Amino acid sequence: MAKDVIIACDFSGAEETFAFLDRFEEEKPFVKIGMELFYAAGPQIVREIKARGHRIFLDRKLHDIPNTVKKAMRVLSALDADIVNLHAAGTRAMMEAALEGLTRPDGSRPLLIAVTQLTSTDQQRMESELLIDRPLEEVVMAYAKNASLAGLDGVVCSPLEAGKVHEVCGADFLTVTPGVRFAEGEKGDQKRVTTPAEARRLGSDYIVVGRPITQAADPVAAYRRCVKEFCHDC
Ligand code: C5P
Repeated sequence: MAKDVIIACDFSGAEETFAFLDRFEEEKPFVKIGMELFYAAGPQIVREIKARGHRIFLDRKLHDIPNTVKKAMRVLSALDADIVNLHAAGTRAMMEAALEGLTRPDGSRPLLIAVTQLTSTDQQRMESELLIDRPLEEVVMAYAKNASLAGLDGVVCSPLEAGKVHEVCGADFLTVTPGVRFAEGEKGDQKRVTTPAEARRLGSDYIVVGRPITQAADPVAAYRRCVKEFCHDC
């Protein structure tokens, strides 16, 4: 499994995003486009970043009835992103419909991964608001298993859950993990964080890193440090 660093481009518009990406002269980082940028700049931003030679994780977290998700996935598939995602809470029927919508006439498709429980949801809120009274880790693993049974390629999860997800769903089932910080860095609003090197040791396949790179004084150096710590055994 190839390991890679995905930069979360949480910017409010195309201009800011391209100014950021222009700083990378030697490499073409894998880029995550989330809700903020997609809503601000529209689908065209995906085509433009792709045309510049970047791979793209389109973080849209779809969750609706199966037919609606299937048709939305058909549209997203035409944008030629490399990874797209949805909420596993939409059930296996929704995930299967999503895969169908995503698959192009020639059989190719982007990778499809599922959000299990958001890392902002804790045990207490899951019990009191979602009325799920099982341990959080058990819920995450059950949702990951549902995603795997539906034919998806992996999940978004914490690096701390990556090893267990691989145990439950297999070594080839992708774990894409946000919540990464440098050893001496600010945590911000992330609660359970690991360093890139720890994420590697814990079995993450891709780390998603936002502010430690986008807000760094030298983003290119910060990106290279992430790649060095995560992709190379050091
Ligand atoms: O800036 P930071 O490194 O915290 O960015 C993490 C990125 O990963 C953000 O785009 C955030 O929306 C996303 N993410 C997350 N936790 C999840 C799912 C996605 O932090 N469970």
